[in-house]
Amino acid sequence: MKYDVADLALASEGKRRILWADNDMPVLAAIRARFARSKPLKGKNVSACLHITAETANLARTLQAGGANVVLCASNPLSTQDDVAASLVKDFRIPVFAIRGENRPTYYKHINAAIDHQPVITFDDGADLVNELHMKRKKDAGRVIASMEETTTGVIRLRAMDQEGRLKFPVIAVNDAKSKHLFDNRYGTGQSTVDGIIRATDFLVAGTKVVVAGYGWCGRGFAMRVRGMGAIVIVTEIDPIKALEAAMDGFQVMPMAQAAAAGDLFVTLTGNKHVIRPEHVRRMKDRAVIANSGHFNVEIDIPGLTKMSSKIHRGVRKNVDEYVIGRNKRIYLLAEGRLINLAAAEGHPASVMDMSFATQALQAEWVCKRAGRLEVKVHDVPLEIEEQVCRLKLKAMRIAIDKLTPDQIAYLATSGEGT
Ligand SMILES: NC(=O)c1ccc[n+]([C@@H]2O[C@H](COP(=O)([O-])OP(=O)(O)OC[C@H]3O[C@@H](n4cnc5c(N)ncnc54)[C@H](O)[C@@H]3O)[C@@H](O)[C@H]2O)c1
Repeated sequence: MKYDVADLALASEGKRRILWADNDMPVLAAIRARFARSKPLKGKNVSACLHITAETANLARTLQAGGANVVLCASNPLSTQDDVAASLVKDFRIPVFAIRGENRPTYYKHINAAIDHQPVITFDDGADLVNELHMKRKKDAGRVIASMEETTTGVIRLRAMDQEGRLKFPVIAVNDAKSKHLFDNRYGTGQSTVDGIIRATDFLVAGTKVVVAGYGWCGRGFAMRVRGMGAIVIVTEIDPIKALEAAMDGFQVMPMAQAAAAGDLFVTLTGNKHVIRPEHVRRMKDRAVIANSGHFNVEIDIPGLTKMSSKIHRGVRKNVDEYVIGRNKRIYLLAEGRLINLAAAEGHPASVMDMSFATQALQAEWVCKRAGRLEVKVHDVPLEIEEQVCRLKLKAMRIAIDKLTPDQIAYLATSGEGT
């Protein structure tokens, strides 16, 4: 078995983490048990470019139980949990190509190793694997039945490829499923971004001014959580509807140019580039902290920040670099501008990834059943899968809900009854 992980000796700790996360992933466990019986992915080669975490390990185990031959590579150079990668190889016989902190050439070498596996189904978190298949491994793209995309940024890239007529196989926008983004992006990113920032800085949230760039699903979740911890929260937006929503949710809304002077902590969650630029950094207070929780490390203009700094002190604390601006203003950049929740903490809690990855697993089964019959475009997750995941999660949480009465069904289906 070929693989490339940091150190197989870390496997026992990784296994403990995988099994601990599994306790909080009852929906995925139920799907895994069914997959083990019915083998819906029998003999299928699957390559998944995802954050290599304990939760992803449980998705990989589920696909493997369904009969798939699974290979994993990382979707971010800084998010790999080396102990989990080691355990996947040693304890679960799942090849992994991922080492935390790998450089760009190694990152792409690992993606190419996953493509060498000749996948017919792929998973992506940010569309790097699909992009490689389209740009450099075109022959290998021909055998792909479908690809599942986990995050907003990936879906944006794939929709752009679709519109340009460049898409070579069907992709499923798993991120856009309600059973994914309403929970994972909002509550998962919300909580784990706070976790990452606190682990990196030991920062007291209460009473500090936190600037949240982007009031989408992730931004809302994070803004909600830091407000709950006593922060004074300022939101920046470019979308008038989201900006209004933030204002009516009780947050201060202003442009970044103005927020820059007020904030103690800045967090970008936009999926856009250069949301924080030198002109903003120039206005910031001494010891302001900047972090990103959007997919790519481009939300903060790091080359611009580097250029304007008189000195850079790397690693003043784990995951903290100090940029000195002018003679003595210190700006702290967390985790090199990469996803703070994965770089400095453990990513989303398993309980919320349970829903995202249950959606992914069911979606893989769905595409397999339709192999060769799916239109080449970006597909939404069918409602029946979203509802199935939410019902299973409610059941696991021992929450019951009401059912429509026949009378209510009839009432909702007619337009006749009024005042
Ligand atoms: N950290 C994680 O684990 C994690 C989890 C899920 C998604 N993500 C990533 O987080 C990012 C946001 O995802 P989302 O689901 O919230 O997307 P979204 O589309 O719901 O929200 C993004 C928001 O940012 C706003 N925005 C865009 N440019 C801006 C700018 N220059 N200034 C201020 N606001 C701006 C948009 O108007 C939008 O409201 C994406 O890159 C996504 O891939 C990260």
